[in-house]
Amino acid sequence: MVATVAMRTKLCDLLGVDAPVINAPMSEEAGPELAIAVSRAGGLGMLGHGVTDLDQVREHIRAVKAATDRPFGVGLLFPLGDAPPKATREEPVEVAARPIPAFLDHLVGPEGLPATVSNRRQALEVADQRLDIAIEEGVKILTCGLGAPDRVIRRAKAAGVFVIALVGSVRAARDAEARGVDAIIAQGHEAGGHTGRTSTLVLVPKVVASVTVPVIAAGGIADGRAMAAMLLLGAQGVLVGTRFLATPEARTAPSHKQAIVDMRDDDTIISRCFTGKPARVIRNAFIDAWRGHESEILPMPAQMDLVRALVEPAKKQGRLDAANWPTGQGAVNVKRIMPAAEVVNELLAEAREAFARGAAMAR
Ligand SMILES: Cc1cc2nc3c(=O)[nH]c(=O)nc-3n(C[C@H](O)[C@H](O)[C@H](O)COP(=O)(O)O)c2cc1C
Repeated sequence: MVATVAMRTKLCDLLGVDAPVINAPMSEEAGPELAIAVSRAGGLGMLGHGVTDLDQVREHIRAVKAATDRPFGVGLLFPLGDAPPKATREEPVEVAARPIPAFLDHLVGPEGLPATVSNRRQALEVADQRLDIAIEEGVKILTCGLGAPDRVIRRAKAAGVFVIALVGSVRAARDAEARGVDAIIAQGHEAGGHTGRTSTLVLVPKVVASVTVPVIAAGGIADGRAMAAMLLLGAQGVLVGTRFLATPEARTAPSHKQAIVDMRDDDTIISRCFTGKPARVIRNAFIDAWRGHESEILPMPAQMDLVRALVEPAKKQGRLDAANWPTGQGAVNVKRIMPAAEVVNELLAEAREAFARGAAMAR
């Protein structure tokens, strides 16, 4: 199936797709089913591999390749900057073995939790190994979240990969362009997951005016009106996360999907307590427990490692009170769970309607 409502931008030609709609590479939630559905619908399907195990990276890429010839991409996270793995081999291994803080005890079951270990060097190396696998498997489109280090840009471009950096500020957009990325995702404060401080409405036109590479808008885009607004502001495509969480193809926990559809007021909040970096998530008891303990939050990835023993099982159980549920403010505009291909087509149809209304107003 391809997009039933055509809407091409120059970015579509660069990516080889029919519609400028990209599903966000949401770690864990954006698996092969979602990428396949979005790519088949004419958009760009993305796999989220910021935190997944290495064997899953390869398995998911192969699943998409087996299901469709259409373009797709992989989203990776490079939160630890540009220290090349070689140099860090000489650094001491950073290990923090600690028990979960006592103020989280009320969320822990009677069986208790093991202390966890954090290894910065390992996290850095695994991020690069995910890139190696993507390149080996012939992936042609890469998004880099939480930073696009020089070594990653160089390596990906040498392999003929189209490199897109996700940024939350004009400064980061200019910097990424200067270092050679092919396109930029300007992600506003409304977005689910790690996010910056500037709203999408303000950030997107400013980034469009500040760089020459194509700009993709992200953050709070949950319907075609918002998509049309972004294209009018100069974006050449939209990256949509939260709206695609509420699709049967996304690997979102059922309780999370339902929380998105039920969200009336904005129940999301920015917190560093899950990963060490500010991220927009559904507010819950875990976040509330960190109030007054903000100075105890460790830098990424140590904070992730610290809370993993509690958060990972809670996530598997769909516990809305204790796990990390990245979700954007746009959830208030998600009315029901519907197939990803329908989401793509509805976004395009609504955007087209919005353009027609705008044209009528301008007459
Ligand atoms: C559940 C979830 C997980 C995410 N994981 C990642 C990730 O691993 N890598 C990444 O670059 N962005 C990630 N993001 C951010 C998205 O790429 C995207 O910028 C964001 O979802 C757009 O805002 P929206 O949710 O309002 O549509 C995540 C977002 C969500 C909601």
